[in-house]
Amino acid sequence: MLKLINIKKSYKKAVALNVITLSMNPGVYGLLGPNGAGKSTLMNIITDNLLPDGGYVLWKGEETRKLGKNFRRVLGYAPQQQGLYDMFTGRRFLDYMAALKEIPKKETADEIERAAAAVNLSGELSKKLSAYSGGMKQRILIAQALLGKPELLIMDEPTAGLDPKERIRVREMLARIAEHKVVLVATHVVSDIESIAKEIILLKKGDVIAQGSPSRLVTEYAPGKSMEEVYLTLFGEEDMHVF
Ligand SMILES: Nc1ncnc2c1ncn2[C@@H]1O[C@H](COP(=O)(O)OP(=O)(O)OP(=O)(O)O)[C@@H](O)[C@H]1O
Ligand SMILES: [Mg+2]
Repeated sequence: MLKLINIKKSYKKAVALNVITLSMNPGVYGLLGPNGAGKSTLMNIITDNLLPDGGYVLWKGEETRKLGKNFRRVLGYAPQQQGLYDMFTGRRFLDYMAALKEIPKKETADEIERAAAAVNLSGELSKKLSAYSGGMKQRILIAQALLGKPELLIMDEPTAGLDPKERIRVREMLARIAEHKVVLVATHVVSDIESIAKEIILLKKGDVIAQGSPSRLVTEYAPGKSMEEVYLTLFGEEDMHVF
């Protein structure tokens, strides 16, 4: 469904992505790597918010840049930075995002209800975003990505800043909504994705250094141990984030 072919990106000073080729089908994919690995850069390229220096992104065999609007229609994206509109209520924010996505007016109310229910925010939509907790803000950011029933979901650190309970809640929700969708989740926290990802892609300084199911990665890089050990083996302890 989603294919990346020879994607390259450098910023003035540094190489951010070094010839990345990946292929994804429905299911949850974890994009795992420490700060600066290139996760957000890759997601910005997939979502067409950033132009790569080389390579292609294909959706069902067609170049996403050429699909344009038709690609954006199947795409849901929750970016890493929360650019939330504090004075908006939850409902107004989702309504605004639905308009940006050009969801037909008559479908908007239903879509908002559905997306809010998926993240357990149905009862909170008349509150202002300024009154939301960090976890609620993160969840409404995920809700906007679900508007319009996307087939491809790109989630950049959806659990950042969440307490352990919220973290589990978001994780379970991602697993639930992943049916029939390609879901790519960036994180530097192994426990966010190891139980829900069918495949984990480990990114280090712009290179995919390993890729596979959690069990395969454990067998290959830390036999008899855990995915945490795989992370430690491949990235070194200084990059370990303990929550
Ligand atoms: N706009 C930019 N200008 C210059 N360099 C950039 C820019 N954006 C990212 N970089 C560099 O590209 C590399 C990859 O950054 P990126 O944000 O993709 O990493 P990340 O894996 O998302 O990190 P994090 O976990 O901190 O979100 C880093 O070295 C970063 O400093
Ligand atoms: Mg990032």
